[in-house]
Amino acid sequence: MRRGWNRRDVIVGVSAVAAAGVASAPQARAALQRVALPPPRTDGGLPVMQALMRRRSTRSFATRPLDPQTMSDLLWAAFGINRPETADRTAPSWRHSIETDVYACTAEGVFVYEPKAHALAPVLDTDIRARTSSMTFAATAPVVLVYAADLARMAKAPREDQVLNAHVDAAIIGENVYLFCASAGLATVILGSIDRAGLPQRMGLRVDQIVTFAQPVGHPA
Ligand SMILES: Cc1cc2nc3c(=O)[nH]c(=O)nc-3n(C[C@H](O)[C@H](O)[C@H](O)COP(=O)(O)O)c2cc1C
Repeated sequence: MRRGWNRRDVIVGVSAVAAAGVASAPQARAALQRVALPPPRTDGGLPVMQALMRRRSTRSFATRPLDPQTMSDLLWAAFGINRPETADRTAPSWRHSIETDVYACTAEGVFVYEPKAHALAPVLDTDIRARTSSMTFAATAPVVLVYAADLARMAKAPREDQVLNAHVDAAIIGENVYLFCASAGLATVILGSIDRAGLPQRMGLRVDQIVTFAQPVGHPA
């Protein structure tokens, strides 16, 4: 069985984009391929009490990539659809806003998780892991999840409430990731020390999106 992200699985001729530069989203979409994830394994893992016993923050990562099945399970646990009839998710959200999108930043580039398709859609063909936070260890993880909230999906609330609850919602997704990692023997830590000002532009986010947290995930070093 093949393991790991094969560049050919995800890339069709990535253009040489300077590390410091920002590719336009259309360019990135042309260069990176959409990744269809295998169905998540939703019937395994540790009992929740044992996962809680093992939950912790870990800040050193082996560089080897996550295999596609693990990536699938991770993203589903984070914020996948657990009630297909309503498309509801594994994490709650304030007033059912479902405003958070989970971005996966890898060596190949940036993808956004599409829960309905259970797929990764390309966003940017640049490795921005080192630029997600001031924490240098984040760049060594094979994937840095970045949580971005679309405040337009929280309409009719004061901005203060939108921002507060976007962070709460993302933190709950982060705990899902912590518990999945505890169960799967992976390392992770949620990060608040992120480049909130620079990331939205670097990732080509829409004007209503804010970045709430980042969370590197990988095998423990
Ligand atoms: C909102 C929030 C922001 C955090 N930001 C960072 C961070 O920027 N860098 C970091 O190394 N750890 C960060 N952490 C992880 C905490 O430092 C960690 O949870 C705490 O030390 C307790 O350790 P434990 O998770 O192993 O129980 C953050 C945790 C939370 C809940």
